Amino acid sequence: MRKIQLTETILRDANQSLMATRMKFSDFEDILPLMDKVGYYSVECWGGATFDSCLRYLNEDPWERLRKIRKAMPNTRLQMLLRGQNLLGYKHYHDDVVEKFVELSIKNGIDVIRIFDALNDFRNIRTALEATKKYGNERTIASGCISYTQSPVHTPAKYVEMCKELKSMGFDTICFKDMAGTMTPNEAERLFGGVVDALGNDIPLVLHTHCTTGMAYMTLDKAVECGVDIIDTATSCFSNGTSQAATETMYYAIEQCGIETGIDEKLMNKVNEFFKPIKDKYLADGTIDYKSLGTDSQALFYKVPGGMLSNMIANLKDMNAIDKFEEALLEIPNVRKDLGYPPLVTPLSQMVGNQAVMNVLLGERYKQISNEVKNHFRGEYGIAPAPVNKELEAKILGEGKSPVDCRIEDSKRTGEDFKAAEKALGDLAQSEEDIMSYICYPQQAEAFLKRRKEKQENVVKYSIVEA
Ligand code: CO
Repeated sequence: MRKIQLTETILRDANQSLMATRMKFSDFEDILPLMDKVGYYSVECWGGATFDSCLRYLNEDPWERLRKIRKAMPNTRLQMLLRGQNLLGYKHYHDDVVEKFVELSIKNGIDVIRIFDALNDFRNIRTALEATKKYGNERTIASGCISYTQSPVHTPAKYVEMCKELKSMGFDTICFKDMAGTMTPNEAERLFGGVVDALGNDIPLVLHTHCTTGMAYMTLDKAVECGVDIIDTATSCFSNGTSQAATETMYYAIEQCGIETGIDEKLMNKVNEFFKPIKDKYLADGTIDYKSLGTDSQALFYKVPGGMLSNMIANLKDMNAIDKFEEALLEIPNVRKDLGYPPLVTPLSQMVGNQAVMNVLLGERYKQISNEVKNHFRGEYGIAPAPVNKELEAKILGEGKSPVDCRIEDSKRTGEDFKAAEKALGDLAQSEEDIMSYICYPQQAEAFLKRRKEKQENVVKYSIVEA
């Protein structure tokens, strides 16, 4: 019997997409033992913005959150999203930092590490993969992830090549990450049909998409038909809009086709009952914006993600130039082409959007070039999917100069970042995890660790008085 498994995203992506990752551990703590028995392929609970949000807004230690989830859910695979060499941030970290981060993630409870690079430059995910293999145990799964986008160079054949590369690198599963939710059923058919033809059934395929444009259910259905093994879904009260398709809906649709999911129907429904009042609470206080719950088809028409459009509108309004919106939108495909058709995912989406706005406002293309775009041409983020505009490259780099190899600097150093962080934190750091938090988010981690220290000192004072 064929089996399709479900990854539940309520604790990470649904939480991130609908409420900017503001859900507290105490909100969902009580449901974890039950979730452990539902029979999900995995529960995505860490990575992405959870780390930053815990330190910055929730006054929670992200490592402690992970350990508590692990303890409450000993039987379910815990999953995280990792931006390759960028870890959970936007800059490239050195190999030793990446390796340590992966080691600590596994040590604190992560089983499935989904690793991606914004440009699909797989040199940027190799270190994280090797560390996962080095520190992993029999439960650990390294999932190679492709940022999905549409462009003249992103053909099904190109995606098949990427899958072959991920497989030969040694990944255990291959995931397509459709962050903008723009993959259509027809594209899913050609994509997964091609991948299954080329790779056969010996490596599990995963589809991660969002309901943003309204495509997700149709696309997931087609992907299931064409050979996908694992799909990402969110418990129904936290599904749809900018989040994932509903777990229950996909469960019923799939099981009716005689395909097994391994899910316990009753327990699955209890999870939703538990989260309903939590959703109501965050809707009432405005943490969940009703706009994120609807369907926004603009992304399909303009071929840019919804978040990028709202960002551009806000920027243009700030500059009193909202009348240039249409013109800026038309400039986006041109800038994207000049940059070598990067997937429009953070940070590339902001870079392309801002440069398009600048080109239009200044009345001359590339009269001013943002530093981020310059760094992209210098090769600091990796290699673009297609050749970049050579004239522009010469203008930015200087005649006859070539981009740098982003891997050279990364591999050089060993231990320096740790020593520097350890020194900067002094007695604020009580573990390697504290030091890693500081390396990833220096200000937020330092502020958090100071608050923690004050709290610990107060407890000591209080117990002396008590005695
Ligand atoms: Co996502």
